[in-house]
Amino acid sequence: MNPKSLLITGGAGFIGSNFIRLFLQSHRDIELVNLDKLTYAGNLESLHDVESDLHYHFYRGDIADAPFVKRLFHEWHFDAVINFAAESHVDRSILGPQVFIDTNVRGTMTLLEAAREFGVDRFVHISTDEVYGSLGATGKFVETTCVSPNSPYSASKASSDMLVKAWETTFHVPILITRCSNNYGPYQFPEKFIPLMIINAMQNKELPIYGDGLNVRDWIFVDDHCRAIETVLFRGKIGEVYNIGGSNEIPNVEMAKLILSKLGKSESLLKFVTDRPGHDRRYAMNSDKIQIELGWKTTNSFEEGLQKTIRWYIDNEKWWTRITSGEYKDYYKKQYGTER
Ligand code: NAD
Ligand code: TYD
Repeated sequence: MNPKSLLITGGAGFIGSNFIRLFLQSHRDIELVNLDKLTYAGNLESLHDVESDLHYHFYRGDIADAPFVKRLFHEWHFDAVINFAAESHVDRSILGPQVFIDTNVRGTMTLLEAAREFGVDRFVHISTDEVYGSLGATGKFVETTCVSPNSPYSASKASSDMLVKAWETTFHVPILITRCSNNYGPYQFPEKFIPLMIINAMQNKELPIYGDGLNVRDWIFVDDHCRAIETVLFRGKIGEVYNIGGSNEIPNVEMAKLILSKLGKSESLLKFVTDRPGHDRRYAMNSDKIQIELGWKTTNSFEEGLQKTIRWYIDNEKWWTRITSGEYKDYYKKQYGTER
């Protein structure tokens, strides 16, 4: 795999922006196109440091807009696609599922159709451990675990995975699917658990813990996920699914307590609140396949990753206060001259 042009969708979100930054550091012979709709979760300020890179090109658009997507494929002749774009927050999917179907399902199909029509060497679809549903106290998800999603978000991601598989079987689109556990790290939107806990603790605000706080997530530092995606892009086997996990299973309340202690704050800030409907109890990933077959492994210990993340939110208060105030929405207009 030696791509000359790579389409990244959803590159102004949390994982996509981290991926673009890392990728541009080590690949200087590829044109990288970032297609993003800039929903509330898309923030071009996260890519401020790379926007003048001559190999980086930004387009604002919707992955579900077929004429627009086709024009882009026609113009760029992409060798590879990595589809990060999605509605990604479970709580929002409970409040309003429609946009999850529009983007995660219909948008993915639109990209698959363009990949089929114009031809690509690789189509990497970024999925999630949440498609497997919920685990009991023991066991881990493997790639052959039955897909059994419980939230509108995970159901939409599972649906997109099914479409991706079908486009390979029926139309021979050269796809690969990655399913990763919960990410944390710099540039994560403050509605997600870890940044919310850090930011609230920094401001001496209550930390909302759903239910009994004993739901378990398997946390991975975002750079390790990005390196796994890069590995799959270059060395993955077409048609395969790869699980990616951090092997860091922690109950939510323990994570919140850890963050409080690292920031020197009192546990009295913990506030147990009404549980999320359909809240999956436990996720845990078996990542043997990508480790054994492709040689990937994590390089950030949980201790290091969490320390870097907390440091980043302390040092980058401007980034997140511009989100909480809504000012980040003006950035696109300022840089590109049109209304958001
Ligand atoms: P995010 O919400 O931070 O970013 C999503 C990005 O997609 C935003 O920039 C948004 O503007 C863009 N987008 C949304 N709808 C679009 C559309 N119709 N057309 C074009 N762009 C659109 O999400 P994230 O946390 O960076 O997650 C990225 C991907 O990784 C998602 O597919 C998600 O399901 C998957 N994933 C996330 C995690 C996690 O812990 N965050 C774990 C596993 C997998
Ligand atoms: P989240 O970051 O929304 O990721 P996901 O639901 O996709 O795993 O939430 C992580 C865990 O933290 C999940 O078990 C729900 C819980 N949670 C809280 O307890 N309080 C909160 O305010 C949020 C946003 C999440």
